[in-house]
Amino acid sequence: MKYGFFDDNALEYVITTPKTPLPWINYLGNREFFSLISNTCGGYTFYKDAKLLRLTRYRYNNVPYDNNGKYFFIKDGDTIWNPGWQPVKTALDSYECRHGLGYSTFTSSKDDVEAKVLTFVPMEDNCEVSKVTLINKKNSDASLTLFSYVEWCLWNADDDMKNFQRNLSTGEVEVTDGGSVIYHKTEYRERRNHYAIYGVNTAVDGFDTSRDAFLGAYNGPDSPDAVKEGKCTGSVASGWSPIAAHQINVNLKPGESKTFIFTLGYIENPEDDKWEAPSVVNKKPAIAMLNKFKTEEAVDASLEELKNYWKELLSIYHVSSSNDKVDRMVNIWNQYQCMVTFNMSRSASYYESGIGRGMGFRDSCQDLLGFVHLIPDRARQRIIDIASTQFQDGSAYHQYQPLTKKGNSDIGSGFNDDPLWLIAGTSAYIRETGDLSILKEMVPFDNDMSVAKTLMDHLKCSFNFTATHKGPHGLPLIGRADWNDCLNLNCFSEHPGESFQTFGPSEGPVAESVFIAGMFVKYGEEYAQLAELLGDDAEAARAREEVKKVYDATCTAGWDGDWFVRAYDANSNKVGSKECEEGQIYIEPQGFCVLAGVGVKEGLAEKALKSVEERLDTKYGIMILQPAYTKYHLELGEVSSYPPGYKENAGIFCHNNPWVSIAETVLGHGNRAFEIYKKTCPAFIEEISDVHCTEPYVYSQMVAGRDAKFFGQGKNSWLTGTAAWTFVNISQYILGVYPTHNGLSINPCVPEDFGDFNITRKYRGATYNISVKQNGAQKGVSKLLVNGKEVEGNVIPYEEGVKEYTVEAVIG
Ligand code: GLC
Ligand code: GLC
Repeated sequence: MKYGFFDDNALEYVITTPKTPLPWINYLGNREFFSLISNTCGGYTFYKDAKLLRLTRYRYNNVPYDNNGKYFFIKDGDTIWNPGWQPVKTALDSYECRHGLGYSTFTSSKDDVEAKVLTFVPMEDNCEVSKVTLINKKNSDASLTLFSYVEWCLWNADDDMKNFQRNLSTGEVEVTDGGSVIYHKTEYRERRNHYAIYGVNTAVDGFDTSRDAFLGAYNGPDSPDAVKEGKCTGSVASGWSPIAAHQINVNLKPGESKTFIFTLGYIENPEDDKWEAPSVVNKKPAIAMLNKFKTEEAVDASLEELKNYWKELLSIYHVSSSNDKVDRMVNIWNQYQCMVTFNMSRSASYYESGIGRGMGFRDSCQDLLGFVHLIPDRARQRIIDIASTQFQDGSAYHQYQPLTKKGNSDIGSGFNDDPLWLIAGTSAYIRETGDLSILKEMVPFDNDMSVAKTLMDHLKCSFNFTATHKGPHGLPLIGRADWNDCLNLNCFSEHPGESFQTFGPSEGPVAESVFIAGMFVKYGEEYAQLAELLGDDAEAARAREEVKKVYDATCTAGWDGDWFVRAYDANSNKVGSKECEEGQIYIEPQGFCVLAGVGVKEGLAEKALKSVEERLDTKYGIMILQPAYTKYHLELGEVSSYPPGYKENAGIFCHNNPWVSIAETVLGHGNRAFEIYKKTCPAFIEEISDVHCTEPYVYSQMVAGRDAKFFGQGKNSWLTGTAAWTFVNISQYILGVYPTHNGLSINPCVPEDFGDFNITRKYRGATYNISVKQNGAQKGVSKLLVNGKEVEGNVIPYEEGVKEYTVEAVIG
């Protein structure tokens, strides 16, 4: 069952009922000011950091679900309704929500009154603009009252939901222009130089800033007293819960419409210019912001600018094939999700509360693989920021806070895959841009500039960390965990409240990871190539020798007979082996070792992927392990704490499915690679939205596995490395346009019946118009013509000054 449809021309997903199985959300904001908005107008807003600078309050764990938001109420006689249906939930005569790239629109009607709401965050301003239009479609005059409503968060979202003894006394506001502009200035007096505003571009008939006054002390936003009365109370909050609500009386002749513009903004003042009079905040920048978005023309122009920004971005990689689902994912939604992961990492979604994790080291490095072609300059800065949280021995803070860019010491380091992801991200950046200068940038360790070294030295530390932290089988030590955060082989957490990852010794001299071994082979080689580019052949040779050792250990101690072992535990027992009672085979080393090329020539790779197909595959994707753990294994940790079929315990953890798909392309299996791609691809499972539940336009972190009661159900949509990896898979391996250090390589691996396709790729300042002809073969370019001339191999030689390349490739 579907709850909407794709409108590819408009670059939108159209939701046709507010009653989706879960809130289906969108992200607004491109730089520093962000909002989450659901298809019923739920969500919240923050500046830079969802924990420390949150503008509006949201209640996770609330009932009903997805409540609080930025709401508009329309009172028409005794009927009260919302354009997004929530929170009043009056049945609407029509409803449509369109989630576009950085904006959302709602068009709804009730009793012949139509409301249109457009909400977006402009490119250059720290605000969310909402344009609200009411249209009278009745035969008679309509006398309506429009109310707006936002509830302020007292900035620190964590403290805001805990520290009531203080917080209920700190709330402060100012109101100007007869109530049109409401200023939220809690804590501005002492430690802050920022405040928030909510203003509307018209005179109002009333306002409220006290939640209790507007809602009534015993009501929720589903039945606000002021709206029922048709009249705000003019309250000025002092402590308790400050809000901002406007009341506008709207009289419309038949056919008439009126439009209002609401601006929710964040303002920072210079420390020495905070006040315009004692206790009165300096409002100049706020007034300038409100003036900027005063007219419909200005708002429309700003939306146009946003749309053009996206059109330009998405022209960097564009495919047109005979498969419209592939085209819409590649050209629109997959790239869009990659950008959202750039902005959010794993901080703020409907499943990540925005107060826990900041930016993940491994997560951000992997996200980069999916957006580096879109915003290379910002990717460059991101690499430097991430590398700045590395320690001198090559290990790294597992997470850092976006506002301060400092590592989080509560989680610390010790996730032994982290260092190698820095090589992955940097290599991708350089292959995309050719900008070797980044390797010479001086980058601090643990943010301490006095011990700074070049980025290349950082990568060397990463490489050496793995090379010098190996266990009894010559495989890399796992530390607290590797990519699988739940495989905690050194932790032994026995009691509730003990962190699975950081309790106990956490790091040990024995437990080893075959997954990190695969990573070391892949990124060790990429490191060696970087050394070569810098002219350091000796370092490249040394690196390749180290890689060879780990390669050999992987093919011996890391091989179980039919697939790769997952790990060795703290007692040197195998994890992910036939010898185990449960958890005999894990997906990660099969995908990653094979995509790194391990065991290809030895015939192990074929076997490993066959085992994956036989033992882990389902109709909804490939499970992370089998058989699921039915008991808690102290020696394995959190992985065995989840009920069978969920999350890391035999769920379909979408992030690693593209690894297997890529691995299949390495072996030339286009049919199978594409089959794997389709299983988790949102557009391909739109029809089962009632089973899948999460948004049909983005990937979720997990789909419940075969052992779970709700097999096929998605969870944790949006903020997942799945976005980047599936984009890498489809764009670079299946469609086969891969950036190398020497230019673009064309080497598609597609199903036999995929048909011909064209790709436009902008790369290093040139445009490549690539057409691929398929003669029923899955892989193997038999002919490559570049600007009419035949070229040997797969790489299009880069020619200085040539801005257009016409490329014709024939497979088979
Ligand atoms: C989550 C984490 C990611 C980890 C994965 C597997 O998605 O964000 O860092 O690799 O889970 O445990
Ligand atoms: C839990 C989750 C895992 C996530 C981790 C983040 O272990 O199962 O997916 O990566 O938390 O710390």
